This record gives sequence, C-alpha cells and structure tokens, in this order.
Amino acid sequence: MGAITAASFRALKAKGEKIAVLTAYDYPTATLMDEAGVDAVLVGDSVAQAVMGMENTLGVTMDMMMHHVRMVRRAVKRAMLIADMPYLSYQISPEEAVRNAGRFISEGGAQGVKIEGPVVYFGEVIRSLTKAAIPVMGHIGLTPQSIHQMGGYKIQGRGEDKARRLRMEALELQSVGCFAIVLECVPAEVAKEITLSLSVPTIGIGAGPDCDGQVLVNHDMLGWGKTKFTKTYVDVRGAMSAAFGSYVEEVKKGVFPGPEHCYE
Ligand code: KIV
Repeated sequence: MGAITAASFRALKAKGEKIAVLTAYDYPTATLMDEAGVDAVLVGDSVAQAVMGMENTLGVTMDMMMHHVRMVRRAVKRAMLIADMPYLSYQISPEEAVRNAGRFISEGGAQGVKIEGPVVYFGEVIRSLTKAAIPVMGHIGLTPQSIHQMGGYKIQGRGEDKARRLRMEALELQSVGCFAIVLECVPAEVAKEITLSLSVPTIGIGAGPDCDGQVLVNHDMLGWGKTKFTKTYVDVRGAMSAAFGSYVEEVKKGVFPGPEHCYE
C-alpha cells in the first residue's frame, strides 16, 4: 500500500508543499510515475478516451475500472491510489455507492475514491462513503460525466454568480468530509480564492497555478491530447509513431531481423 494517504494530503497543504497527481491505467506507466515521486495516482474514468477510444466517459463500467485499478495497484508502492467512480456507480443510491466504492477498496486495493458533483446532489453519498471509512476526493467545475447537462467541455465558474456557487460547492464538499477537491477548468482567480478558503487541498486541472496541487491525464502530457491547459513533456506519441513506421519499413525491406537477432 502507498505511504501517502488521505491524511498526507492535508499535511502537504499545511506544509505548503505542492501535490503532484497523474492518471494511470496500467502497470508499466504507474510504476514509472511512482518511481518519479507522484503523490497520488488516479485511475481516472478518462481511461475511456485515453485508452479505450470512447467518445466520452459515460460508457465506463465498474468492471472496466476494476481491471485497471488492479493493474495499477501492483505497480504503486509509495503514492496514494485513488479510483474514479464511473458513471452510474454512485448516482443511484448511497448504498450502491458504498458497495461499488467498497469493491475498489477491498478487491482493488485503492485507498480512496473520487466522485464528480456537488453536495446538493451527492452529500448523502459522500457521508455514507465516509461512514464506511472510504476517503473521498471531490470533483467540481467541469465534470465530464455531466457533459450532456453542461452542453460540452466548457470552462466553469465564470462570472460572479457562478464563481460564488463554485466557492460554496467547495466549502460544502469540505464540510461533508472530502479529503481533497479537484477543480477542473475553472478561472485561475476563482481557483485561488477557493484554495485559500479551504483547509483541504485543491487539485487543479485547467485551474491555474495557485491550487494546492495539479493533476494531468498522462496521455495529455505525452503527446496525445493538446488543450490550453495541458503541456507536452515528452512526445511519446511521436516517438511511438516513428518506431512503428521504421519497423514496418525494415520488415518490408527485409532489414529486420538482422543476423544479430537470429539464433545460430
Ligand atoms: O478521469 C480523470 O482522469 C479525471 C481527472 C481529469 C481529474 O477525472
């Protein structure tokens, strides 16, 4: 189990140390992230687009998520492992939410779960999970499971009324027991105000530099996605594409395998 826990998140905020979170869906990637010192690995339902080629996150099931959580569990030694609750795994009732989140904890080895949405909808769910000793990470701002309601992947919390609502939602998530709150696609100034008003850390994605931590979808930092708020750290996509192209060319020309790749 990872050495970083939900309690470490508060301590990191209190120390003023920024929190680095990345998504991972498989063993080799999660191994490298853990070795690099990330504080938490999130098995996100973004696996839908990043790995499965789906159009959005709505088709991801508990069984699909469990498959990836187990792979990542085998890799991660130090970081906290957080499992994303997929669409319809927590919206139906608090009982179903506890049963599903409990599977992530007991069968998958996760140390916490993340759910999308405000207390007005999920207050009871978050309280029930907390009662079952399951640490909950909140997620507000752009919540991709509400894509049809939101009418697209748009920045949230713009304008005084919407910013006030977002500030309120963050405080409410803290008061029902969330150990951290993801702020997605929120103006930097609003994210800063929210961060200053909370004792639990904010983890931003497209929410500016003043959040207590940052999270990125790993494929977005490796050359697959390009949005305003992502950064390509290494073009792995380009490197893989070039390698596959060279392989095809060498096989076609009879260059690979060479004598050094053959048994006597
Ligand atoms: O599914 C995911 O990867 C997420 C992060 C973007 C926070 O929810």
